[in-house]
Amino acid sequence: MKLLITGGAGFIGSNFIHHILEKYPTYEIINIDKLTYCGNLENLKKVEDHERYKFIKCDICDKEKIDEIFQEEKPDFVINFAAETHVDRSILDPDAFVKTNFLGTHILLEAVKKHGIERFLHISTDETYGSIDNGKFKEEDALLPNSPYSASKASADLLARSYFKTFSLPVVITRSSNNYGPYQFPEKVIPLFISNILQGKKVPLYGTGKNIRDWIYVQDNCEGLDAVLHDGEDGEIYNIGGGNEKTNLELTQIILNELDKDDSHIEYVDDRLGHDLRYALDIEKVSKIGWEPKHTFEDAIKKTINWYLENEDWWKKLQTKELEEYYEKQYGA
Ligand code: NAD
Ligand code: TYD
Repeated sequence: MKLLITGGAGFIGSNFIHHILEKYPTYEIINIDKLTYCGNLENLKKVEDHERYKFIKCDICDKEKIDEIFQEEKPDFVINFAAETHVDRSILDPDAFVKTNFLGTHILLEAVKKHGIERFLHISTDETYGSIDNGKFKEEDALLPNSPYSASKASADLLARSYFKTFSLPVVITRSSNNYGPYQFPEKVIPLFISNILQGKKVPLYGTGKNIRDWIYVQDNCEGLDAVLHDGEDGEIYNIGGGNEKTNLELTQIILNELDKDDSHIEYVDDRLGHDLRYALDIEKVSKIGWEPKHTFEDAIKKTINWYLENEDWWKKLQTKELEEYYEKQYGA
């Protein structure tokens, strides 16, 4: 089997590549990534010389190059992780979100239509549903995204599904909840808060801190994606949730506590515009193909904090001028 993975130099994509190479002794991987500010080949250092792994620098919006890659590599499976992923950046500057998340997905779907493959796994998100006060989202619920990020992801998700309905493309879609674990770019809340505390800075908590996210350890998500890739049905959508709902304040206090710090390190800042109150997923459908999360939040958050403690070099290198400029725009600091 040959897997073409887009966005494999990012957080979930790189974890997924490690997972696949370890688990399947015959699978080959072609990783195509534009290497944006959060694409990082350091995440793949351990496999860069692996005989079954190859990296190609490529923007998924580059139609000709994508066509050439499909022609030359003839992948069996395509897994589309490539995206602009940070909600706050989508509020500051939505252009790249529409281009990569929507138009880029369209270019990939067209390449799949032309060249034919066994399966196109499109990585979508729980944020496409919008916010839910009570209960949990099921796969057939309406998509009511509230940020330019989630709207661009919802558009791509719907387009992918339409290529199944209209052209019978073998599309499967996953919508997962908030991931955490190794190699997550330190602009997302968990690595941002850990790295801030380790540098003696405060942590910027938006609004009241009462917004709720459902957290899934990235390894559990990779196993869920693997299950859907192999055992999901064409045209179907699968929620992949961790079942660990926490308010942002609870999450912050867990991190502070693990690092022997108290609430005085919290700085309440202006709320995010259009900030979704709560995400929660019903995972009955994916559990029917044999997947469930294995990690408890209590263990996996400790593992994650330890990883950032042990890999200071990894995240310190990411503290670039670009990131500083972003923080300046975002927090005016
Ligand atoms: P990430 O931002 O860490 O990585 C995204 C990767 O895509 C980077 O390597 C980047 O260089 C690459 N990329 C961006 N634009 C590209 C382009 N035009 N062409 C080729 N490559 C490009 O993101 P992540 O957290 O690993 O998320 C991966 C996918 O999972 C995304 O589609 C995201 O929407 C989805 N998702 C993420 C989460 C989460 O909690 N992180 C939850 C649900 C769904
Ligand atoms: P984030 O990691 O950006 O993921 P998403 O917006 O995709 O869920 O944010 C997770 C939650 O943490 C979200 O409710 C916003 C909040 N948050 C803060 O309170 N402060 C921060 O500095 C960041 C980045 C996020």
